[in-house]
Amino acid sequence: MIIAIDGPAGAGKGTIARYLAQKFDLDYLDTGLLYRAVALKVMEEKIDIDNKDSIISIAKIIEVKSLNNPALKEEGTASVASRIAVIPEVRQILTEKMRSFCLNVALPYKGVVLDGRDIGTVVCPEANCKLFITASVEIRATRRTIEMEKSNPSEANQHYLGEIIQRDSRDTGRQSSPLIPANNAVTIDTSELTIAQACALAESYLPEVLLYPEEFQ
Ligand code: DC
Repeated sequence: MIIAIDGPAGAGKGTIARYLAQKFDLDYLDTGLLYRAVALKVMEEKIDIDNKDSIISIAKIIEVKSLNNPALKEEGTASVASRIAVIPEVRQILTEKMRSFCLNVALPYKGVVLDGRDIGTVVCPEANCKLFITASVEIRATRRTIEMEKSNPSEANQHYLGEIIQRDSRDTGRQSSPLIPANNAVTIDTSELTIAQACALAESYLPEVLLYPEEFQ
């Protein structure tokens, strides 16, 4: 069982993914963290953003199991992540790691939820359910500011609107696996929804086998 959730930064896909994962016993991978982990190492090692070969070498050693560094959450890391995410070789390497995460799912999990930009289109085109979560750019920037005030007060004064507009344009405009809804994805605009409403709406699109398992026994 694979649930693919895509969408731009700050639309609420992580919140929805975590909700679905917990409620339906699914393992969860925030695939943006893989791109952020490559970006963080690039920054720490002061590697030039044009040094493709070194960035590709870093992508190879990133591990899905060690994505807990709080610095991964910073907007500066996200911005570099979206810049290295245009490199097709980096995408290919990280995509393989995501697929292997899906293949290695084991009990007690019944399946996986992945969120990102190209899960329904490229990473898991065979997913059982594809959601595309979006919201207006102003709402997404406001949410990001509130989120940062809680988790990272030192960054809270930053204005995220410009950063998010730039990231959107890089993520949707790149040649390799751009951010785009899959043909068979359901789009949910969370601009006017509370978290509870957005999660409930997402849940209503899950396959029946997850929603009513007793009927399939
Ligand atoms: O989901 P996020 O904001 O943590 O992602 C950070 C950046 O990583 C995003 O701007 C683009 C890139 N990314 C990607 O290209 N493909 C994915 N599946 C996930 C993230």
